[in-house]
Amino acid sequence: MDYPASRELVPELSVRPSSPSTNVELAERARAADLPSFTTVVTTDQTAGKGRLGRTWSAPAGSALAVSVLVVPRTASGPLALDRFGWLPIAAGVAMTDTVARELPDASIGFKWPNDVLVNGRKVCGVLAELLPERGGVVIGAGLNLGMTVEQLPVETATSLSIEGSDADPDTVLAGYLTRLRELVQGYLDTGGDAEASGLAAHARSCCITLGRAVRIELPDGGSLEGTATALDVDGRLVVRLADGRDETVAAGDVTHARMIPPEPAA
Ligand code: BTN
Repeated sequence: MDYPASRELVPELSVRPSSPSTNVELAERARAADLPSFTTVVTTDQTAGKGRLGRTWSAPAGSALAVSVLVVPRTASGPLALDRFGWLPIAAGVAMTDTVARELPDASIGFKWPNDVLVNGRKVCGVLAELLPERGGVVIGAGLNLGMTVEQLPVETATSLSIEGSDADPDTVLAGYLTRLRELVQGYLDTGGDAEASGLAAHARSCCITLGRAVRIELPDGGSLEGTATALDVDGRLVVRLADGRDETVAAGDVTHARMIPPEPAA
């Protein structure tokens, strides 16, 4: 697979027959050389993939797309402030949500904060963003289950495009994702990193299935909290209303959705 459509969309697309981790590979290259933003590495055989919060990410050879994109965000007035980087992996989750929705128009698709893509409540894609402070950039990796069979699923809460009824061509999917990611990131940078003004926040809210739900969040420090997810803040963090009425803002964590919170009855 040579990915001709995707190749048109980025300054460089490295197609690897196999890679231990496209994130690690791209980060190593970006540390060693001044690569342009949107340099991309892709494989369908990732052998030592990294997941969020120190976990592994694995898929049988040929069953999933592993794609990593280097983003070096610059606004008209200079490099994007580091506290505005939080919207970049959310943009990736939203871009993949839009891409999957085009493949599966009849399914219920949404992203679970911070950036898992779910189809009919099951995870089809995960995103891992790794900062490259020395380059002022971030490597955004996405793993999308394509042709994975039920027997090959890593966990029973996962799914794949083929299980859900799409035999999507990898180049079409990758090109859709890269197009959407570029649009969302460029729009965000054109406003100087203002997610509200660029429309990124509104679009993220519209496809985020975490908002309005009772959630339990496992935090990176080993702690946890429970409450209702109410909003995305100015930096893309999740605002959670606790049982005692206080708001807690979470930058990273593993979210479990509980039941949908019914709206307040009219007075
Ligand atoms: C998650 O835990 O949900 C995030 C998984 C991210 C996996 C992708 S596959 C491409 C890139 N390379 C990696 O090693 N990990 C990410």
